[in-house]
Amino acid sequence: MSNYHIKHLEEYYQVYRKSVRNPEAFWEEIAEEHFVWRKKWDKVLSWDFSKPEIKWFEGAKLNITENCIDRHLPTRGEKTAILFEPNDPDEEAQRITYRQLHERVCRMANVLKDHGVKKGDRVCIYLPMIPELAISLLACARIGAIHSVVFAGFSSNALATRINDSDCKVVLTSDGSYRGSKTIDLKGIVDKALEECPGVHTVLVANRINGKVEMKEGRDKWLQPLLDEAYADCVAEIMNAEDPLFILYTSGSTGRPKGMVHTTAGYMVYTAYTFKNTFQYREEDVYWCTADIGWITGHSYIVYGPLANGATTVMFEGVPSYPDFGRFWQVVQKHKVNQFYTAPTAIRALAKENLDFIDKYDLSSLKVLGLVGEPINEEAWHWYNNNVGKKMSPIVDTWWQTETGGIMITPIPYVTPTTPTYATLPFIGIQPALMDEEGKEIKGNQVSGRLCIKFPWPSIARTIWGDHNRYRDTYFSAYKNMYFTGDGALRDAVGYYRITGRVDDVIIVSGHNLGTAPIEDSINEHPAVAESAIVGFPHDIKGNALYGYVILKEFGETRDRENLRKEINQQITEHIGPIAKLDKIQFVTGLPKTRSGKIMRRILRKIASKDISNLGDTSTLLNPEVVEEIIENSL
Ligand code: PRX
Repeated sequence: MSNYHIKHLEEYYQVYRKSVRNPEAFWEEIAEEHFVWRKKWDKVLSWDFSKPEIKWFEGAKLNITENCIDRHLPTRGEKTAILFEPNDPDEEAQRITYRQLHERVCRMANVLKDHGVKKGDRVCIYLPMIPELAISLLACARIGAIHSVVFAGFSSNALATRINDSDCKVVLTSDGSYRGSKTIDLKGIVDKALEECPGVHTVLVANRINGKVEMKEGRDKWLQPLLDEAYADCVAEIMNAEDPLFILYTSGSTGRPKGMVHTTAGYMVYTAYTFKNTFQYREEDVYWCTADIGWITGHSYIVYGPLANGATTVMFEGVPSYPDFGRFWQVVQKHKVNQFYTAPTAIRALAKENLDFIDKYDLSSLKVLGLVGEPINEEAWHWYNNNVGKKMSPIVDTWWQTETGGIMITPIPYVTPTTPTYATLPFIGIQPALMDEEGKEIKGNQVSGRLCIKFPWPSIARTIWGDHNRYRDTYFSAYKNMYFTGDGALRDAVGYYRITGRVDDVIIVSGHNLGTAPIEDSINEHPAVAESAIVGFPHDIKGNALYGYVILKEFGETRDRENLRKEINQQITEHIGPIAKLDKIQFVTGLPKTRSGKIMRRILRKIASKDISNLGDTSTLLNPEVVEEIIENSL
């Protein structure tokens, strides 16, 4: 029992050693003691990274919703499972108990069945952050259908590509969505997408905004009347451990999106176990992850991980800046949130604003602060620690990926001493390795290299939907018998990991490896700087030189640009060394970002290299308009 909840550092090391010495025995014990199975496994693990083929808990039978809902009913039936906080602070929050969740999931499952959805079928979910979103994931899982959630900020093109790639016949959506002061016509986007998707026969539409929408005869139906009529119980489909649970597309780099496939048992065990420990969740706690369920963070740490632990999980429909920049903190105070999990990009945006937005709220309920998605810079880390956590709540900087399904490297709060910008130690069962470019493992400490994982963990993605070769080539061919993450990392003197960014973002200048993250870190510490991005561009002597795009804070706008350039380079010289100085610094008003908030460096690299003939598709950007401005003023 004790292994499920790590409480001090010695115990972490002890359990970690056990988990890597005999992974099968370790995970078997966790699976056995903390989940309900219709049938136990015949074999805990079989794997071969060269194919690659990975199977956990083979032969076991289960339904993940019995673990996330049914088993809690006798003891937690009246406990809030999902706490829905609407976009508009004046609209009442909704508390959905485990008992109500059971009923709503069953009704939704029956509606899907009535529309011909069977085990193994793919269902596309294009919904905003309303309860129906979480409920429809679970309803698919209830009947063994494979959900494919598409973030409801994607364009109709992106939606159509994803619907067709996984051959979805049914789409769940809403008439529209609220996002801050805006309403978005989701149904219109679906209609446009479906012009390219002849395979879709049914569209089920939730009413969120009382919008006037066109309903296509025979295809489109309002969801609520169907739910009202549906039977309130639905027997769970018995699934095999390795049956796919969902497909989730990774956010667009180049080429076709990759539909990562996650399977049932291993994903459940790993997300539940990481949730419990990474957030030190206790029975009465209120946990809030601000991500959208359209991303892996929402799948694993709003829905499955928390619910498998019988937790209360907040679902927030809104944005951090509406009605003002105090919205996150107002919600923390209102629901007495204990664990708060967000992205560095949100922290950086909020750190630009006045502290009054924080100081007027009581944040004393907070016990753990989480981060995920990108490297955090030191200044933002301290801002979060000082102003949100009041130096009392440990920050867990969690490194992981859509492909890993769950958190891989992270401090355990109140257990692992934290260091700003470090994800610190591998989670239980995770065996990281740093590799050099020749394919050799770099042992010891105070080293850096390419981050790989040597041994399978239960929630690793099993394939790319419809393209197993691409799965092998992308993740298992760079290094023999290793999963390659695509990230660079360093391991410091005490063995802590710091993720330095995608390996493709590492720039080699005069033979020196320079990570963009530490340079940006350094620039961002300049008091006049709000945000920055560094890319490489070809240079006659150095091979590559550095080009910086810098957003100034409002007061910085009035400063002399040449002086600012000097000061920034002076600062980099001090933090990293003269080798990391920027050859060019362009001041910009925004950086091109994907809808998940990641900077599109590919575009910046092209502009810096004066190669703007083929910038690729910029339509999926959050702010395509900024690209023109950057081109116009480029140096
Ligand atoms: O580069 C790493 C970065 O985000 C990538 C994975 O992105 P995605 O699949 O969208 O999943 C994001 C949510 C899990 C990684 O390869 N990344 C994620 N978390 C961190 C991070 N970089 C630094 N620190 C993190 N904590």
